[in-house]
Amino acid sequence: MHSLPAIAGNGPGPRCTVPTGRPNVLYSRDMPVEPAKLCIVRYPDPVLRQRAEPIETVTDEVRAVAARMLELMIEAPGIGLAAPQVGLTWRMFVVHVPESHPDDDPDEDNRSPGDDPPTATATPMVYINPMLSGYSRDLVSESEGCLSLPRITGQVRRPSVVTINALDAYGKPFTAQAGGLLARCIQHEFDHIEGVLCIDKFLPPDRRRAAKQLRVMENNADAFTPGATARG
Ligand code: NI
Repeated sequence: MHSLPAIAGNGPGPRCTVPTGRPNVLYSRDMPVEPAKLCIVRYPDPVLRQRAEPIETVTDEVRAVAARMLELMIEAPGIGLAAPQVGLTWRMFVVHVPESHPDDDPDEDNRSPGDDPPTATATPMVYINPMLSGYSRDLVSESEGCLSLPRITGQVRRPSVVTINALDAYGKPFTAQAGGLLARCIQHEFDHIEGVLCIDKFLPPDRRRAAKQLRVMENNADAFTPGATARG
């Protein structure tokens, strides 16, 4: 997810040379992943629409993939990235919502890991096999973007507070509550591992506007030549 103009540019970013629109056959649980070769896949890659599978064991390979995902997310730049966005149907995502500083845009919300519940992360976070619960009843609408949907943004209504249960990068279970932008980011990334994209949740005017941009992306994807193997 990239929803903050200040920390989330709309730059072109690294382009996956794997053709989009092709079934994701490069990885299965039997095939080792080369983290260095992972890159961010873009709409309409079908992997973005698959429901991801639980990670059975948190191995060195999983940790290496998480580290690469954090690298790609920070480089993009963005504040969250889910495994399907690097072509892996794994239930894992990474998030880093930095604390806001006084010299940030004054219109922006103040965010801090010390808030109750926290609205920012003190360090980059890895969430494996996450489960969400404890949604607050209030719905807040804010603009969201996605690293797999460059230049597309829209208003999405979400609960302002959520609780997440997950395994950390060492396989240790933890529970955390999140509010503000952190809650939004966690819900956006969780949607990714369910095969759901923020465009599905855009409020109607933004959804109509995005539809045109999506058609352009779908048409451009057809122009790619199959056969590249950069992702595997
Ligand atoms: Ni996203």
